[in-house]
Amino acid sequence: MKPNARNNKLNPSLRSRLLRLVLVPLSFILLIDIVGSYFVVRHVANDVYDVELNEIAREMLLHVTRKGGQLGFDLSPDAERTLLLDKEDQVYYAIHTTDGKLIAGDPSLPARPAIKSGKETAYYDGILQGQDVRIALLRGKPLLEPPAEAVMIQIAETQIKRDRHERALLIQLILPQVLLILIAGILIWRGVAHGLSPLRKLQQELAMRSHLDLSPIAADNVPGEVEPLVGAVNDLMTRVDGVLGFQGRFIADTAHQLRTPVAGLKAHAELALRETDPVQVKRALGHLYTSAERLSRLVSQLLSLARNEPNNVAANFAPFDLNQLALRTAQDWVPLAYKKQIDLGFETAEQTVLLNGEAARVTEMINNLVDNAIRYTPSGGRVTVRVHKDEEGAHLVVSDDGTRIPIDERQRIFERFHRLLGNHEEGSGLGLAIVHEIATLHNARITLEDDIDGVGNTFTVTFPDTPVSA
Ligand SMILES: Nc1ncnc2c1ncn2[C@@H]1O[C@H](COP(=O)(O)OP(=O)(O)OP(=O)(O)O)[C@@H](O)[C@H]1O
Ligand SMILES: [Mg+2]
Repeated sequence: MKPNARNNKLNPSLRSRLLRLVLVPLSFILLIDIVGSYFVVRHVANDVYDVELNEIAREMLLHVTRKGGQLGFDLSPDAERTLLLDKEDQVYYAIHTTDGKLIAGDPSLPARPAIKSGKETAYYDGILQGQDVRIALLRGKPLLEPPAEAVMIQIAETQIKRDRHERALLIQLILPQVLLILIAGILIWRGVAHGLSPLRKLQQELAMRSHLDLSPIAADNVPGEVEPLVGAVNDLMTRVDGVLGFQGRFIADTAHQLRTPVAGLKAHAELALRETDPVQVKRALGHLYTSAERLSRLVSQLLSLARNEPNNVAANFAPFDLNQLALRTAQDWVPLAYKKQIDLGFETAEQTVLLNGEAARVTEMINNLVDNAIRYTPSGGRVTVRVHKDEEGAHLVVSDDGTRIPIDERQRIFERFHRLLGNHEEGSGLGLAIVHEIATLHNARITLEDDIDGVGNTFTVTFPDTPVSA
């Protein structure tokens, strides 16, 4: 399966999401609107037909007669046709006295409800001969002399006309609304395509890019919402560029730095092979061994440098006691210090100094600082490792009695392969670069000052005071 195809399946497109988000509520609103308007319009249309029924009832009232003291009804066939004949609907009527006696008409008309006081006519729905009918009930006095009692006239009409009218109304209401939704859908579909076109351009631009080009992506034409994403990608590219740059430099430096000792090794080996005198062979092998040791130191320092490059490291921090760690590490150097007749001392803080960090890397840092202090301090000198804590944070201090490092060199000695001129000690020039990397990794600051006793240097690493749970 192509990855894109899979992603499409997993991630609904922005278009369909927008369509859903806009059209579903819009359709719902329109539906409410249609239903509301339908009831209003139907009510208005019904009123018109109701008034017609009332008119018929009023007309019928004129045909109520009195014969021999009894109320009757007299409707000529012509008048009946005019009043009661309709093209579509059946019209029925019934005339009763107020006490319910049928005067004329159809006795099966649905029962009469009470007419509201102040009203002359009531309108209601009912069923007559299995058909839905609308009924107007009029209470009125016939125009007779002497005046007669009021009568109740019911006019019932089937609802064919009204139903047809309602259907027409519904169609007229729904059609424009459906059209509106369709147009909105098309506009959203096209609008989203238009809005996303800068993204498509961006995607094409990235697809055509060389894998070596890690320059930032131009965010000029991308929509504002996508700008943070472009910013994050650019940020990532800068970091990747940093890592790649470091690796490139590292490989170049390594090749360069290894060339000389490897050539030395080869030369000593050749010399040893050529010698026949066992004493000379042993001497040559001694040189070979020293060169191999130097090379081994260089290789291990190079590896340490690569291991601690802050951009390359996924730090795995855990709490540890700097007091304990510095003491244990310094103790490992006692035999060498003793051999070199250097007084190696350790001053602990009064309380435990908890740090959040990587103990193994901090050990590596202390090793490099103490190694330098012992290496560059002449015999009979003193090296002190001290841990203390104040409001600024935890301090690891390594002071020595070595050659004073000039002020204008104090920055540069932390650079890779930088060594002081006139330095007769062996070294690869990487120790302090490693110290600097590990300090950066721990957000720590390194300072280098003259030792307080006036002889030598003091390196101080200050770890920021961050809360650590024991
Ligand atoms: N405590 C010190 N006293 C005097 N000079 C020092 C001290 N520490 C470092 N230096 C100077 O700074 C240079 C850089 O030190 P760094 O530890 O980086 O490299 P190195 O000691 O030469 O080699 P290595 O990688 O084997 O440690 C040293 O060569 C030395 O000249
Ligand atoms: Mg060193």
